[in-house]
Amino acid sequence: MNNFNYQNPTRILFGKGQIAEIANQIPADAKILITYGGGSIKRNGTLDQVHAALEGFTYHEFGGIEPNPTYGTLMKAVELARAEGIDYLLAVGGGSVIDGTKFIAAAIPFKGEDPWTILSERAPIESAVPLGNVLTLPATGSESNSGAVITRRETNDKLAFMNPLVFPTFAVLDPETTFSLPANQTANGVVDAFVHVMEQYLTKCENAPVQDRYAEGLLLTLIEEGPKVLATPDSYEARANVMWAANQALNGLIGQGVSQDWATHMIGHEITALHGLDHGQTLAVVLPSLMNVMRGQKGAKIVQYAERVWNIREGSEDERIDQAIAKTREFFEQMGIPTRLTDYGVAKDGEHTSVVSALVEQLKRHGMVQLGEEGNITPEVSTRILAEAV
Ligand code: NZQ
Ligand code: ZN
Repeated sequence: MNNFNYQNPTRILFGKGQIAEIANQIPADAKILITYGGGSIKRNGTLDQVHAALEGFTYHEFGGIEPNPTYGTLMKAVELARAEGIDYLLAVGGGSVIDGTKFIAAAIPFKGEDPWTILSERAPIESAVPLGNVLTLPATGSESNSGAVITRRETNDKLAFMNPLVFPTFAVLDPETTFSLPANQTANGVVDAFVHVMEQYLTKCENAPVQDRYAEGLLLTLIEEGPKVLATPDSYEARANVMWAANQALNGLIGQGVSQDWATHMIGHEITALHGLDHGQTLAVVLPSLMNVMRGQKGAKIVQYAERVWNIREGSEDERIDQAIAKTREFFEQMGIPTRLTDYGVAKDGEHTSVVSALVEQLKRHGMVQLGEEGNITPEVSTRILAEAV
């Protein structure tokens, strides 16, 4: 096992009625900015609960943060926050709202000329406005991690930054806020969480049984509970299990001390940037193909995954790998998320080569030329992965 230095400072408030608890988590004299997306929190009653909890507090609101939050919109929130002297941010929504709010938190006190450089040049951050959140879409793990992914439409950039200063101070995970999720967003979330686990698990056999068994437990939970939330969207138990699994998938714990491979995400971000697919959809397209192309390097771990997660024990190593890839693809399709670019109208006949090469150019432009646990997913390998994902 590799050395690690791990702390996750985010307090988790899990379960029914926990939104009321935010009153005890935010300083009484704070000047709060509540941030949210396109309005789902108004329609499902979450915002009303937040208002009730914040009675007596001083707050402003900023809505309209889009899925794949954009720099242009977020900078408007930064302007408002600076003008009003905001000193606490409360994100209410999915990963996009929380990610966007992390960027706002870092951008408000940013001393450099343009906060975009936090993403484009990894410009250092000296401080950030504290933030908490009420999560309404289990998927990204953003509610208790230090990462954020921001899009700049004019330049087709979708870039990530990570900084301990933007760890949320608390996250409310009330499964009842997720009952209103449409099936496609529920499914995107399950696939996203599943792929987060895979990217910290499906690398090498490193004699790290705690991380491996924990990852396998999360995968099995998502495989069992994912279809239940689609079949019974109002099942508190199923929603609760998915919400907790998605949180654990990317709160930093299972990736400690082991190799990681974020190539599926990095390639997926480019697909969203150029073609607008949802984040979860891009991952369902890339992962099965990546597993196949990288089977030489990842073979032993894929066989372990095949046996422990899918109970595949028969056949040669190659046959078991084939079956594990097929099972993975089937699971995404069962969740209603197609796994080929052409299923989304991208890379139709005659366009395959140009679509793939444009995506690979984006990877090069963003310096994503040595991906994977060995740094050997070069542009040439990404080309093969994408060509197989058509
Ligand atoms: O905008 P509103 O009206 O709120 O609607 C949203 C949005 O249209 C809707 N929604 C959210 N909660 C709902 C709901 N609708 C009904 N009922 C509810 N309870 O769902 C739509 C999608 O929301 P979004 O926040 O975009 O989805 P998600 O949570 O999947 O976040 C995706 C973003 O997170 C980034 C992705 O790249 C993408 O930009 N990621 C962030 C990560 C991180 N910070 O660690 C890691 C991830 O890998 C990912 O890259
Ligand atoms: Zn993700």
